[in-house]
Amino acid sequence: MKIEIKNLKKKFDENIILKDISMTIEKNKSTVILGQSGCGKSVLIKTIYKLFSFDNGSILYDGKSDVEIDNFSMLFQYGALFDSLKICENIAFTDFINNKTNFDRKVLSLMNDVGLDKSVFNRYPSEISGGMKKRAALARALYKNPKVIFLDEPTTGLDPVNSDKINELIINVITKRKITAVSITHDIKSAIKTGDNYYFIDAGVIQDKGYCKNILKTKNKIFKSFINGAKY
Ligand SMILES: Nc1ncnc2c1ncn2[C@@H]1O[C@H](COP(=O)(O)OP(=O)(O)OP(=O)(O)O)[C@@H](O)[C@H]1O
Ligand SMILES: [Mg+2]
Repeated sequence: MKIEIKNLKKKFDENIILKDISMTIEKNKSTVILGQSGCGKSVLIKTIYKLFSFDNGSILYDGKSDVEIDNFSMLFQYGALFDSLKICENIAFTDFINNKTNFDRKVLSLMNDVGLDKSVFNRYPSEISGGMKKRAALARALYKNPKVIFLDEPTTGLDPVNSDKINELIINVITKRKITAVSITHDIKSAIKTGDNYYFIDAGVIQDKGYCKNILKTKNKIFKSFINGAKY
């Protein structure tokens, strides 16, 4: 799905978070959103996801302003699994809460796709590692075959080795399944490695954009200082 955002403005009461954001999310590509903590990255993707309304501008999904929210999946920033549910129930959450029970095969196939051993099928989140939880959360996001997946800092809390593994997994999965991806990251290295296009937000507007492979060649002063100050 192609998503076109034009002159988007979003405020909470009098607090303007996004002043004027225009960007194009290309179909089946990986778009990365970068910016300082608190600049409005999560608010932006939640607005695109239709979890928030907006105050001005337009968002078109394949040319239309209406979109079925079932096309979307999100890996939330602090994307916790439900502690009281088993891994299989977490992954099949949408079916599980509707009392559907025949999801075992689909869950096992997804677990295989994200590199989770079948021995964790009946375990609870507290019984598996952080990296495994991320894999399970990714499997849950893929369960409904989304056209667009939003990833809000998918590797937060992981060590560098596991972050690399999860980033690699995400690229493989979205390329194989032809999914449009929109991700937020603080990690410049992973943006370069995993993204096609980037947008850098500062002070409520897009300060810089381009191909991820050219991030380190940027001429934008604010983005440059962000890159130099960013921990990676
Ligand atoms: N539901 C809400 N109601 C009011 N203000 C909100 C709401 N959600 C976010 N904000 C405000 O919007 C601003 C941007 O928040 P957001 O979470 O988008 O930042 P971010 O760029 O994702 O930061 P980080 O990198 O730390 O995750 C913050 O000042 C925050 O307090
Ligand atoms: Mg955020």
